Amino acid sequence: MDAASPASPSSSSPPPPSPTARASAVSPMTTISRHYFGGDSSSDDHDFYIDIIENMQEDYGMFVWPCSIVLAEYVWQQRLRFANNTVIELGAGTSLPGLVAAKVGANVILTDNAAREEVLKNMRQICKLNKVNCNILGLTWGQWDAPIFDLHPQIVLGADVFYDTTDFDDLFATVTFLLQNSPGSVFITAYHNRSGHHLIEFLMVKWGLKCSKLLDGFSIMPPCKGASLQGNIQLVEIALDDQKTKS
Ligand SMILES: C[S@@+](CC[C@H](N)C(=O)[O-])C[C@H]1O[C@@H](n2cnc3c(N)ncnc32)[C@H](O)[C@@H]1O
Repeated sequence: MDAASPASPSSSSPPPPSPTARASAVSPMTTISRHYFGGDSSSDDHDFYIDIIENMQEDYGMFVWPCSIVLAEYVWQQRLRFANNTVIELGAGTSLPGLVAAKVGANVILTDNAAREEVLKNMRQICKLNKVNCNILGLTWGQWDAPIFDLHPQIVLGADVFYDTTDFDDLFATVTFLLQNSPGSVFITAYHNRSGHHLIEFLMVKWGLKCSKLLDGFSIMPPCKGASLQGNIQLVEIALDDQKTKS
């Protein structure tokens, strides 16, 4: 994996940290990182922390990747858009964006590879730790198990899900299915632009999708969170291309 490193455990806590904001070890390779949301001028009363159980010894889905911090911040800043909507996070891993969506009032379904029971189990523990009520579902991209047909999200989230090019087609197949199953829905994703945008652009056309918004992920980050992040992180909103659907 040619990824940037996972985010440092305390990277998205605001300075100065409260006494409880430091990462704490619960076993030699397991830590709990604390992530703060709030502090903008609009309201103080909705500020909250999310605690994430991370295991640096395990595979990709067991720690917080920088894209997840960017996407979670976007959800927080756009929280009115998420409240009362159904949100599905794909390849959620430690699930920071989905948990923020749940905290701001969305009905959230967290998903990851159905074969990765340790990742799904960690999600359940993280939800319990944060007293957040999310549905958790094994959903492997490009596979059509029965539960997927009942999913009708308004918003699909994905943080750092474009990292293995051999999975891109399967991921787009699942995204396209979900967008078709719920007219008007969008896929919002933060990804590392590791080898240019060309393959993703090509596949969007192939799957009848269009990129409706593209932002430099760092442009939305408060300095206290952005300073420790590295790489070229793009934040993209993808929708069905109506012109393609009609033709
Ligand atoms: C780079 S990690 C990102 C995790 C998390 N979204 C974050 O940003 O912290 C990629 C995630 O995609 C999941 N994943 C990989 N291949 C998958 C597949 N074929 N179907 C579903 N999930 C998959 C992994 O288990 C992992 O949680």
